[in-house]
Amino acid sequence: MPQVRPWVLDTPHSGIRRMLEYARDVDNPVMLINGDPNFTTPEHIIDGAAAAARAGGTGYSPGDGLMTLREASAEKLGRINNIHVAADQVCITTGACGGLYTTLMVLLDPGDELLIPDPGWSNYAAMVHVLNAVPVAYPLQPDEGWSIDIEALEASITPRTRAILVNTPSNPTGCVESAESLRQVLDIAERHDLWIISDEAYDQLVFDAPAVSTASLGGSDRVISIFTFSKTYAMTGWRVGYTTGPSDFIRQLSLHQEPVVSCASTVSQHAALAALKGPQDCVDDMVAAYRRRRGIAVEILESGDVPFVMPHGAFFLMVDGRATQMDSWSLAHHMLREASVGTVPGLAFGAGGEGFLRLTLAASDDVIVEGVTRLTAAYASLTRSNGG
Ligand SMILES: Cc1ncc(COP(=O)(O)O)c(C=O)c1O
Repeated sequence: MPQVRPWVLDTPHSGIRRMLEYARDVDNPVMLINGDPNFTTPEHIIDGAAAAARAGGTGYSPGDGLMTLREASAEKLGRINNIHVAADQVCITTGACGGLYTTLMVLLDPGDELLIPDPGWSNYAAMVHVLNAVPVAYPLQPDEGWSIDIEALEASITPRTRAILVNTPSNPTGCVESAESLRQVLDIAERHDLWIISDEAYDQLVFDAPAVSTASLGGSDRVISIFTFSKTYAMTGWRVGYTTGPSDFIRQLSLHQEPVVSCASTVSQHAALAALKGPQDCVDDMVAAYRRRRGIAVEILESGDVPFVMPHGAFFLMVDGRATQMDSWSLAHHMLREASVGTVPGLAFGAGGEGFLRLTLAASDDVIVEGVTRLTAAYASLTRSNGG
């Protein structure tokens, strides 16, 4: 076989998938691994897609998406995110993944550096690596609810830095960044003339207060905001999202996604339109379920004195396993083999996640009760045997 580009052989692959593979060898584990909502897409959204498909909406759309959906997305950005843009500043993408990857294609030269959160969603480093650019981790602070360490972020900037990626609400930490800290990130980007890529895939999945969008605070010439229908409407399999930013940038984004995907699935775009135009109580119901599950998990963890960092958004919770004195891969393996509960080791999200385990709240209440109870018992016996 002729050669593939050498560096693709070293692309870091998702630790989540590795844990899923290990879990296959265990009898009936309780799975707290997945980042996929355990809800199916609401009926009226599926109906909207089916009706549009039957009416002939099955061909290509324009590369930047159906104008009706761009307009509805712009309206939602103003209403929910306080980002006021025209429809031509919105490009419909193949989920947040498509928006992120095409953005990086447009911004990064080989050797350029992208600042990414640590711990952070593992796909960031993989995307940057494939472009032969360099992911540079900046730390989040577990003792401050996993908020950005602003000084360390600025200290990570070099002449090769092109952009800062922020993710709020965060996967894996559940942190919802404050307006104050996002303002500081904006100041840094302005001082160093950098782009900001704001991944807001979980923008509406918040438990205590609305999330602040970076672009609502300023930086209209340098903030690129990534959104998706995947999480808010339980539509991960439809692969549709949207990105907004300065007009000239959005033009480049559209031009560069077209040769790769032509357009996001037209049928899925009709589904997304039904999602935005239809009743929103399905979103409230799903958020209420994630919030309730957070409460269930927190109560069990607290009753067993298991430390964790309280999440305020997305649908994950980071358990602090440092007192076990095990590294996070060993701890996750231990939980899987001895307690039959699947979690994701914090190290899968970067060095800053070491010592932690990520649990999902995107599983049924029963699964969460069973899984967190098992984990709590296993934690107690580990810390007892440590004398800790
Ligand atoms: C932080 C974050 N950004 C983006 C995505 C990708 O979402 P999409 O399904 O819209 O591609 C995910 C999915 O897990 C995520 O956790």
